[in-house]
Amino acid sequence: MNIKPIRELSGEITVPGDKSISHRGVMFGAISQGITELSGFLDGADCRSTISCFQKMGIEIHQENDHVIIHGKGLYGLSEPSEILDVGNSGTTTRLISGILSGSPIISTLNGDASIQKRPMGRIITPLSMMGADIVSLRGNNCAPLKITGGHLHSIHYDSPVASAQVKSAVLLAGLYCDGITSVTEPVLSRNHTELMLKGFGADVTSQDRCASVKGLPKLYGQKITVPGDISSAAYFIVAGLICPNTSLTIKNVNCNPTRDGILKVAEAMGGKLKYDNLREVSGEKVCDITISSSELTGTVVGGDIIPTLIDEIPVIAVMAAYAKGETVIKDAGELKVKESNRIDSVVSNLQAMGADVLATEDGMIIHGGKTLHGAKITTKSDHRIAMSFAIAGLNALGETTFDDGECVAISYPEFYTTLEKICH
Ligand code: S3P
Repeated sequence: MNIKPIRELSGEITVPGDKSISHRGVMFGAISQGITELSGFLDGADCRSTISCFQKMGIEIHQENDHVIIHGKGLYGLSEPSEILDVGNSGTTTRLISGILSGSPIISTLNGDASIQKRPMGRIITPLSMMGADIVSLRGNNCAPLKITGGHLHSIHYDSPVASAQVKSAVLLAGLYCDGITSVTEPVLSRNHTELMLKGFGADVTSQDRCASVKGLPKLYGQKITVPGDISSAAYFIVAGLICPNTSLTIKNVNCNPTRDGILKVAEAMGGKLKYDNLREVSGEKVCDITISSSELTGTVVGGDIIPTLIDEIPVIAVMAAYAKGETVIKDAGELKVKESNRIDSVVSNLQAMGADVLATEDGMIIHGGKTLHGAKITTKSDHRIAMSFAIAGLNALGETTFDDGECVAISYPEFYTTLEKICH
C-alpha cells in the first residue's frame, strides 16, 4: 500500500459497479414484488451495509461477489427489525432507507460508525417530518442514531435547500407510501439514479429540469439490473493516467450518466486527452469505454451547476490541479465539509504535506499547481476517497507516500490497490 513514483501506466481495466446504483438496486428490489437480480453489484462495505439492513427486516438476499438476488416483498413487506440497523459508514444507506422506513408500519433504529454519527440528518428529518413521519435524532443533534416510527404519510412538494440526491431520494421514496404526487425541486440537479431506476421498477416518475415527482402507492416489480462501472472509482485512474508519463490506459464499461460526468468535463477543460468509445445504454444508464493519455494540464475554475455532478471526485480533481500548470479554483462546494470527512480540510492538509501550494476557502480551495510534490504520510481520516486520491498523487511524487489507514478503500473499492498495481510499471 506504499506508493512509489512510476514510469508508465498502461493496460485495460474495468472498475467495480456503481455504488449509488448498487444501493438502489437492493433497496428497490426489497420493496418490489418478486425477484430482483443484480449483476455487477459493488461488493464493498457500504453496499453490504444496505444488504444487511434489509436482511434484518426479513428480506431474503443472496450475495455472491457482484451477483445479488433479492426476494422482494412489496412496499409493505418489511418486518420490524429486532436489532439496530447498522449503516456502517454509508450516508446513502442512512438517508435513502429513512424514506422507506418512514412509510413502513414498523419501528426501527439506524446507527453507524463515528463518521456517520457526525453527518447532518436534519436535511432528511425536515422534509420527512413535513410528510408526517415520526423520525427522531436520539441525541437531539440532528445526526444518527435515528429512531423511525413508520406510519401514515402524506405527499408534499419539497423545495430542497441543498442539491443532494440523497435528500431528493429520501423524499421520493417516502412519496411511494403517499396517496398522490410527491415532488422535490433542488437548487441544482443532482444525480438521477433514483428517478431512472424507480421508473424501471414500474413507478410513475417524472423529471423536468430540477424537479422530480413520483406518484404514490405504485405496484413495483422485481427487475434484472446490470450495474455499470462506477465513474467515481474510474476517476482515480483517469487522473492517474493524465498526470503520469507514458500512459496508455483504457477503462471499460464506465457509467457516464450526465448527472455524474463532471470529472470528464473538468479533465477536458484542463487539457486532458480522453477518448470515448462504445457509448451505449445499460439498464437505463449511459455507459462507455474511456481511453486516457498522458496530458499537459492547465488550471481551471470548477464551480456552479457542475458541482453535484462531480462532488465525490473533488479530492482527486484537486490532485489533478496540483499537477497542472497555473491556478485552479474550486468553489460552491461547501458540501465537501459534510462528507465522510471534512474533505476541504483533508484534501488541503494532505496536499500541503506533499508540498503543494493550496489554500482552503469557505466553499472549496485554490490550488497553484505545478510545484514538485514529494511523498508524505497521508492522514485519511478513514475516508476512502481521500486514501485513493492521495495514492494517485503519490504516483508522480518524489519518494514514497504512506497512509495511516489505507484499508478504508474497502468502503467503495476493495480491489483498488490490486488494480493500481496491475497498470503501474
Ligand atoms: C449519493 C449522493 C451524493 C454522493 C454520495 C452518493 C447517492 O451525496 O456524495 O457519495 O448515492 O445518492 P449527496 O447527494 O448527499 O451530495
